Amino acid sequence: VQRDNCILVIFGASGDLTRRKLVPALFSLYEKDLLPEKFAVLGVSRTKMTDASFRKTLAEGVEDAEAKPDPDDFRKFAKLLFYLSIDPGEARDYGKLSKRLKKLDESLKTGGNFIYYLSIAPSMYEVIVENLGTAGLQKEKKQDQAYKRIIVEKPFGYDLESGKALNKKLTKVFREPQIYRIDHYLGKETVQNLLVFRFSNGIFEPLWNRNFVDHVEITASETVGVGTRGRYYDSSGALRDMVQNHLLQILGIIAMEPPPSFDSFSVRNETVKVFQSLKPIAEDEVDQYVVRGQYTKSQINGQIIPGYREEEHVDPFSRTETFAAMKVFIENWRWGGVPFYIRTGKRLPTRVTEVVIHFKRTPHILFQHKKDEQAVPNQLIIRIQPDEGILLNFGMKRPGTGFHVEKVSMDFHYSDLGDTSLADAYERLLLDCIQGDPTLFARGDAVESCWRFVDPILNRWQNNPDETIYGYPAGTWGPRQATHLLTQPGLDWHYPC
Ligand code: BG6
Repeated sequence: VQRDNCILVIFGASGDLTRRKLVPALFSLYEKDLLPEKFAVLGVSRTKMTDASFRKTLAEGVEDAEAKPDPDDFRKFAKLLFYLSIDPGEARDYGKLSKRLKKLDESLKTGGNFIYYLSIAPSMYEVIVENLGTAGLQKEKKQDQAYKRIIVEKPFGYDLESGKALNKKLTKVFREPQIYRIDHYLGKETVQNLLVFRFSNGIFEPLWNRNFVDHVEITASETVGVGTRGRYYDSSGALRDMVQNHLLQILGIIAMEPPPSFDSFSVRNETVKVFQSLKPIAEDEVDQYVVRGQYTKSQINGQIIPGYREEEHVDPFSRTETFAAMKVFIENWRWGGVPFYIRTGKRLPTRVTEVVIHFKRTPHILFQHKKDEQAVPNQLIIRIQPDEGILLNFGMKRPGTGFHVEKVSMDFHYSDLGDTSLADAYERLLLDCIQGDPTLFARGDAVESCWRFVDPILNRWQNNPDETIYGYPAGTWGPRQATHLLTQPGLDWHYPC
């Protein structure tokens, strides 16, 4: 019997994430023959559905996600999908869940291994965890080694206090090693490559510190607006939606020390140390270190783009930020004094996530063409998405008379690897959880440290409703005040194209 055989129980099975992401990812794993030998999905939610109608909605989701799914493969895969209609908020419904799980487990021989996936409104997390506990569905029986795991989707709390409360609730019922807090950015191939790039090459690591690095930029720009998610987004904002989780996780990997070995304990210890070393931004320093913005109505290619306040389900007087830029310092020996600039926003000119490492200028400028010409500092651009790859900029002599320096680059694109397609983040993360590897999931202490860092900023904005929020026309790079964060003369953000 394979150790990873299991039943994946999805709470919120009639929802968008299940249809759009989870099941297409599972189907792709099935096509690659990566799912365990014995495996099933039990979708759970309040909507009344039969197994057959559940399979039908999921088939549509797979068709939207994949260009041409093989119908025979999907038919076989669909036999692994089951559905149970219960009210996850009702303790007494868990008897039905228990019974159905037992029956499926016996017939499919999944060894009593269950993974619970919370893909449901966050307000339901605590009650589901409690109900699972009361029904004893979290218990791992020593003698048959059956495992029980729980995957928790973001948002993991709303602030430090609620993040801590959720951790407390979870760890009352499950042990920390059973808990998998998902951050889909960690499932991205190119985010994992940051680890390989840093720790499998001898030439970059000696330069990866305050002696050689001038500053670092982390940008996640999106062209989309909030679309149909206005209700969620208006109570969240860019800081909670992108910075507290995805961008700080990237920062953790960029800035961490090399772990003693590549296991979940060592790797996550090192990223947590980065989060614990973030220089706090006190409430009265927020203006100095953080700029927030909100997109306003504009016209792009002749098309009118509504402003954020005109979006569906958004308060017309909303002061929720759709853009956030900040200057962050890490107080440790490696990074002391090096600014990390983080920026994210909706309705920016292009969709790009990238990290730019700006190295220091040469100590002395030999090749100066014009009087105030500056040496071209080296940049390493790590493109997380799209056009995934790595680019190193450096100076070369322009052929011809004199000694004129030209910026050129060495450029690697994942697409050059030919038939290697990059798997969706959820594929990797679901498989890791099935195989019991939590390395790419956020640990409880990491999530709390990240909330601890962003909390004063959120408080400042919440307690001072008149605090400035800058408008920026949709389709531009956010408020120009974000540039003032870069205080060194002549410095500006890197604008990816
Ligand atoms: C989600 C946010 O976590 O990440 C969204 O809630 C955002 O607002 C999305 O659009 C970005 O993810 P990706 O993978 O498209 O960069």
